[in-house]
Amino acid sequence: MVHQSFYRDTWAEIDLNAIRDNVTAFTEHLHDETKVMAVVKANAYGHGAIEVAKAALEAGADRLAVALLDEAIHLRNAGITAPILVMGWVRPQDAPLAEKHDVALTIFQKDWLREASLTEVNQLNLHLKFDTGMSRLGLRDEEEAQELVALFKKYKQFHIEGVYTHFATADELDSSFFQIQQERFRQWLIWLADRGIEPKCCHVSNSAGATRLPNDSYQFVRLGISMYGLKPSAELNPPFDLKPAFSLHSRLVHVKELLPGDTISYGATYTVEEKEWIGTVPIGYGDGWIRRLAREGRVLINGEFAPIVGRICMDQCMVRLPGKVDVGTKVTLIGKQGSREITMDNIAEQLETINYEIPCTLTARIPRVYMKDKEEVAVNHQELNFL
Ligand SMILES: Cc1ncc(COP(=O)(O)O)c(C=O)c1O
Repeated sequence: MVHQSFYRDTWAEIDLNAIRDNVTAFTEHLHDETKVMAVVKANAYGHGAIEVAKAALEAGADRLAVALLDEAIHLRNAGITAPILVMGWVRPQDAPLAEKHDVALTIFQKDWLREASLTEVNQLNLHLKFDTGMSRLGLRDEEEAQELVALFKKYKQFHIEGVYTHFATADELDSSFFQIQQERFRQWLIWLADRGIEPKCCHVSNSAGATRLPNDSYQFVRLGISMYGLKPSAELNPPFDLKPAFSLHSRLVHVKELLPGDTISYGATYTVEEKEWIGTVPIGYGDGWIRRLAREGRVLINGEFAPIVGRICMDQCMVRLPGKVDVGTKVTLIGKQGSREITMDNIAEQLETINYEIPCTLTARIPRVYMKDKEEVAVNHQELNFL
């Protein structure tokens, strides 16, 4: 079937049932008092923030987390009313905007609170972040923490809703540093309690932490990669199935038989040795299907692997077909056809990176088609907003 609401034959399919099932699996795995905060930053790791946020909330996630205030406002503008936390640094002068949209911000600097106190804020929820070993964002100095706590007592318009930290090695088998970070966080909670601060909303675990600490993840886990059905690392095996939500497809736009000596694509780097059927697939580095994928890259056509041959161009690449195949035949670049599968992890391995990076870098030029109960329920083609 040719899609009617966009005019190219390359698309990503996002399985919202998979998102739902992954959230449910974690909810069942976790202690009853631990809820899911669905991490939908970076356009839900390239899956589409609004649709994923709605599916996660429907499946029982309690709240959402993003990296940017802009991302939070995008969700609010789509009518999402669940609590949202911005995990990144937001300019203190934008604190009133966060309040206007009922968005909680992350705080870890005393100067931030001083500057934000000069703005028109009446009541803003903040999550206090401690750096227990990631060395990215967070309070690590007791003196500054002391000053910040004193400022909180002065500026009553700011409310410490939550306290959190982030693990650097939760996905590694060696748990020594993971344990050090957990202990440092416990010490900070005792330190806060000694000063009369006992937040009701603590969170430490990402997907790896949530997998490994079902009973020690406090009130929330910040669930990202595994909500999308992917493992945070090869070593980490959750005791339940994860269902990948993202698959990538296209259709052959041209098929021809080439003869020995014919060459393929820029640089004429691939030479045909025997007669070969070659297909052209309309995806290229302009879509994030980058040139390095030509090295050992392959796709699925009629349930068979077909290698990418020659250099990947901006909008197209060529594949060697198992035989003569019709123009319009479906090509799967990530996902299953019959008994064969190309996983996100396969692509990440080929590119010597992590699975997180792959859906994030497949650009908005690729329409996202949302599936629920095997029916298409929405389409998002962000780059060309003529839809
Ligand atoms: C602060 C914070 N919490 C949670 C997450 C979610 O992590 P994961 O995708 O590994 O579940 C991230 C993502 O990088 C993050 O930066």
